[in-house]
Amino acid sequence: MANTIVIFGASGDLTSRKLIPALYRLFQKKRLPDGSQIVGVSRSDFESEQWRQSLRTSVEKFAGDCFDNETWNQFAENIFYHAGDIKEAGDFKALAKFLDSIEPEHNSGRLYYLSTMPQLYEEALKQLGAAGLNDDSDGFRRVIIEKPFGTDLKSAQALNASIHGVFREDQIYRIDHYLGKETVQNIFALRFANSIFEPIWNRNYVDHVQITVAEEVVVGRRAGYYDTAGILRDMFQNHLLQLMMITAMEPPARYDAALVRDEKVKVLHSIRHMTGGDFASDTVRGQYKGYLREEGVPKGSDTETFAVLKLFCDNWRWKDVPFYLRSGKGMSCRTTQIVIQFKNVPHILFGEKTREPLGNRLVMQVQPAEGIQLHFETKVPDSEMKTRTSTLDFSFSNTPGGKSLPDSYQRLLLDALTGDASLFARSDEVELAWGIIDPILAAWRSPAAPPLFQYETGFWGPPESSKWMYKQDREWFDVC
Ligand code: BG6
Repeated sequence: MANTIVIFGASGDLTSRKLIPALYRLFQKKRLPDGSQIVGVSRSDFESEQWRQSLRTSVEKFAGDCFDNETWNQFAENIFYHAGDIKEAGDFKALAKFLDSIEPEHNSGRLYYLSTMPQLYEEALKQLGAAGLNDDSDGFRRVIIEKPFGTDLKSAQALNASIHGVFREDQIYRIDHYLGKETVQNIFALRFANSIFEPIWNRNYVDHVQITVAEEVVVGRRAGYYDTAGILRDMFQNHLLQLMMITAMEPPARYDAALVRDEKVKVLHSIRHMTGGDFASDTVRGQYKGYLREEGVPKGSDTETFAVLKLFCDNWRWKDVPFYLRSGKGMSCRTTQIVIQFKNVPHILFGEKTREPLGNRLVMQVQPAEGIQLHFETKVPDSEMKTRTSTLDFSFSNTPGGKSLPDSYQRLLLDALTGDASLFARSDEVELAWGIIDPILAAWRSPAAPPLFQYETGFWGPPESSKWMYKQDREWFDVC
């Protein structure tokens, strides 16, 4: 049955670059319910036809080879624009009327997408409530909220309180686009659809876990926002902690939103909060050389563009197994990978004892070379008993349907339309995540903050990060 997707922030970058191309692809794949309508709302004074034209240009660009004229024309018939200001109560009343006028009698519901500046979220929610647009007596009403969800625990709590004043928790979809990535969902499959990994997925066999989200890009035009956020807010509170939760969680009894999120939240509860000397010993901070010259960065800014956190889960499965979370801008390449480094054999029979555990490593490549590799020791042919590391390599691109994986927003929009919140963050989840990050941010802004290391772009962050690992008898898995 038809439904309506209302996008606030219609003239923004996210709408044209991600949301509309994703909706177009869903329509093309016949996965969008028949007759679904898209209504864009923003202050700009467009006519619907003008908006359609500008969207067409971006879909042509972002949907690439998938663009075809006929499909676009059919899709565009159901796209509308309605000018309105989030601060104007009257504009919401007019929007309500407009929605009533275009929706068929049997409309299954409305999905509101807040893609505005985050400072406007609370106002938008208030106005939705005041105009009765949250009333779900004749169909579902759901709201998707883009990141960042607050800037610290206090603001996240305030935002949660505002949303809960208007929508029930089951109507709220807090987006973390990492959860929409096929390869992130594949971690669920790898862990919970196979029995071979589970027996060794714990402190008895795992030496440590490395979660790296490296980006080659620098902050560029986003410097104004970035300087107030820094890498902990921008990447760790959300994406890296999400990857850690999925790697460390217990199997849920069913793949359903409540149970999946219960298990993820248990991981957050178990993460040991840093105190005292931990902030200096268990973190590394960096800033790429040239950051201070980016337009919009204040003189002398000490905002981090690189960070490492060593976290522990105090629970039976993971006690004392370090989880190294690392992310940076201006790195050697773009790669997101999770490395499960298994312990070395208890007694080495072949070759010399080396610092690094040999092979024994599972690498989950989230992007861009989506796949999984298992590294293990094999005999060097025609040698006495020398071994070397070999790799079993699974690549999505070599499997049917795996050549071009769908963009995260396709999955997430479809899930929100069908009411599946498994891949969205719950209120307690975002608050607990801030509870882990806030003390680190505070320590890094205190007079006792650990040093901010400068690093050249094009490498793996500051050399101090490798030295720090080396001191723990470990090495980063730095492979592009
Ligand atoms: C966003 C951050 O959430 O994720 C950006 O704000 C970052 O700074 C981006 O570049 C990375 O996403 P992806 O999907 O390109 O890895």
